[in-house]
Amino acid sequence: MLYPLARAALFRLEPETAHALSLAAIARAGAVAPVRAALGARFRAPDAEPVEAFGLRFPNRVGLAAGYDKDGEGWRGLAALGFGHIEIGTVTPEPQPGNPRPRVFRLVDRRSVVNRMGFPGQGAARVATRLAGERPWGVVLGVNIGKQKTTPLEAAAGDYERLIEVFAPLADYLAVNISSPNTPGLRRLQDPVFLGALLGRLAAKRAELADATGRRTPILVKLAPDLDPDQLRGAVDAIVGAGLDGIIATNTTIARDAVAGHPLAAEEGGLSGAALSELSTRVVAAIAGHLGGALPVIGVGGIMSAADARAKLEAGATLVQLYTGLVYEGPGLVRRVLEGLGPATRRPGSRSTGS
Ligand SMILES: Cc1cc2nc3c(=O)[nH]c(=O)nc-3n(C[C@H](O)[C@H](O)[C@H](O)COP(=O)(O)O)c2cc1C
Repeated sequence: MLYPLARAALFRLEPETAHALSLAAIARAGAVAPVRAALGARFRAPDAEPVEAFGLRFPNRVGLAAGYDKDGEGWRGLAALGFGHIEIGTVTPEPQPGNPRPRVFRLVDRRSVVNRMGFPGQGAARVATRLAGERPWGVVLGVNIGKQKTTPLEAAAGDYERLIEVFAPLADYLAVNISSPNTPGLRRLQDPVFLGALLGRLAAKRAELADATGRRTPILVKLAPDLDPDQLRGAVDAIVGAGLDGIIATNTTIARDAVAGHPLAAEEGGLSGAALSELSTRVVAAIAGHLGGALPVIGVGGIMSAADARAKLEAGATLVQLYTGLVYEGPGLVRRVLEGLGPATRRPGSRSTGS
């Protein structure tokens, strides 16, 4: 009802400017408890069933994907839009500017986006200051971590270790991003040559912190939709082998088949939204099939409706996330998806806790 009007105004602005304005408004609303409560009354799905996964209790199955709130500025307000979990980041060890603008493009007629942000952000220390304190409605807070652009791949493990040290005590779970197409070489960390060693070090760091603090923070790995079947199986085996806790599938795609011929298809970067939906669902199915229930999967990519979310769950996901759907469908999407999904179904590696 109201969102088409807001969307028309926002879509007249350059995408990143529109995003910054939206996030600032949500952050302001989230800082004032009565406003947050009013938003919650409107946007939260009251009957959503909680789900347990990775040893955490999620108030519902729909989360906000990484990249929307990179620096953790608006997550309390975003929780009021009804998300069961919010994944902030990608956070890098130090501040960095990202790629030159423009770096986000709307393919409006395809309800899709191409972005080549390149992890702009304020850096770990600044973000960490925003995470302590209350968690509205038990929202689960994930922190997605990534290496600094200037860190060579051979030294990437050190960046992730540092980030785990900062965020393990603050986050409910950590997501290791080795799948953004916009940091040169990053996706090579998904290759078996790097991945086994990298994940082994991250698991060791987590164990060291767990010994010191008594809390073992779940670590998930976020994968790209562009791996071939062998690479995908190798990556999944490495994640299971390292004793990590789950997989987020998928990040944006560098493929353009789904938008071939579109005037913006040639923009460099990762494609998200409706044009990614089928590909990411196929990847979720391949991962879940290979895992055979060994670990839970978070399905993400092109969820623009309850039917899209259901497709991810039917492919084997336990939870879902969305980003581009929020841009095109507005904040009411979260509740619509949850109401459209109905009661939770049992999934391997998860259990509905009832209410
Ligand atoms: C503008 C933009 C920025 C993004 N930034 C990040 C990021 O920093 N880290 C990350 O893991 N994923 C990032 N993503 C990918 C999303 O988290 C998600 O995996 C992808 O967009 C597919 O979901 P969607 O189709 O619902 O948007 C970004 C996506 C967009 C559109």
